[in-house]
Amino acid sequence: MTTILAFESSADETSVAVVRDGRTVLSNSVATQIKSHQRFGGMVPEVASRHHVEWVTRVLDDALTTAGVTPADIDAVAVTYGPGLVGSLLVGLMAGKTFALAHDLPIVPVNHRAGHIAAAQFVGEITYPALALVVSGGSTELVYMAAENDFKVLGETRDDAAGESFDKVGRLLNLPYPAGKTIDELAHQGQPTIPFPTAMAREENYDFSFSGLKSAVINYVHNAEQRDEVIEKADLAASFQTAVVNALVGRTQRALTDFPVKTFILAGGVAANSQLRADLAEVLAAFPATTYLPVPLQYAGDNAAMVGAAGFWQYRAGVFAGLDLNTAPALDFDLYAFD
Ligand code: KG4
Repeated sequence: MTTILAFESSADETSVAVVRDGRTVLSNSVATQIKSHQRFGGMVPEVASRHHVEWVTRVLDDALTTAGVTPADIDAVAVTYGPGLVGSLLVGLMAGKTFALAHDLPIVPVNHRAGHIAAAQFVGEITYPALALVVSGGSTELVYMAAENDFKVLGETRDDAAGESFDKVGRLLNLPYPAGKTIDELAHQGQPTIPFPTAMAREENYDFSFSGLKSAVINYVHNAEQRDEVIEKADLAASFQTAVVNALVGRTQRALTDFPVKTFILAGGVAANSQLRADLAEVLAAFPATTYLPVPLQYAGDNAAMVGAAGFWQYRAGVFAGLDLNTAPALDFDLYAFD
């Protein structure tokens, strides 16, 4: 039995969790600072770092108390060291390293995106090979896993991340940040009547692009304003969301056809999107040899439990770091696992 204490602070959630054997969440304490960023319409790095400093020890206490464990019960400390905002990452990293030093525990370095994927283990067993679609505020990528802790990026966004495009369109429509959930809800009340383009639909790769779609939405809104037309927000939301989901689902379908896998994982904050979940479930029905593991909603956004799950993979692989571990704000899978 391996008990991991995990730290996550790469963006605007301060989180500490206790996870056993990568599968069982004993606690997952999350302090979100979304309200502080709402008045700015987006995440402000300096504000984020300060909140992390204020919250990290409280969240740590809560995670240990809720799990009912003491430092003596813990086998390793897992920390997100990238990708993310450098000032934010530093807080969780320093807290994790300090705890490890104080209690003489090994440090396990974790890639935030590996964490998003590993959260699928909270709903079922991942059998390999596996394919993951990771869609969050900071990334959009299709990741192939031949084995545990082995990541190969098949395709990724060439510009904005899917979540980022939800948030930017939300800002245009004066919706509160982050706008993904609100657009999802609005879309249910409208119809996808506006034919926004699905970028690169005919290109033979697994990449994504969302900036053209964002510009198309901006142009649509500006043109309507100039003509003094009332914008049907619900129809706009439904049309925009349909374009994003079609791009994500189309690329995933191609990857599933070209790379037959035993498990398909949907992960990241945008995995909470109802249209995406439903459309992917439909596509997966045509791949009976593939088990569909959408990360449960409570673990789709940023949290430390997922870091504990990915940390267990690193622990099993014998990947540890010293106290000199630094943040890697632009960390990608090629640099991960230290091999
Ligand atoms: O994974 P996450 O919590 O943070 C990052 O690591 O980026 O993802 C946050 C993103 C935000 O962009 C938010 O708007 C989006 O996930 N999101 C959604 C939904 N819920 C959250 N996007 C679309 N539909 C949703 N229901």
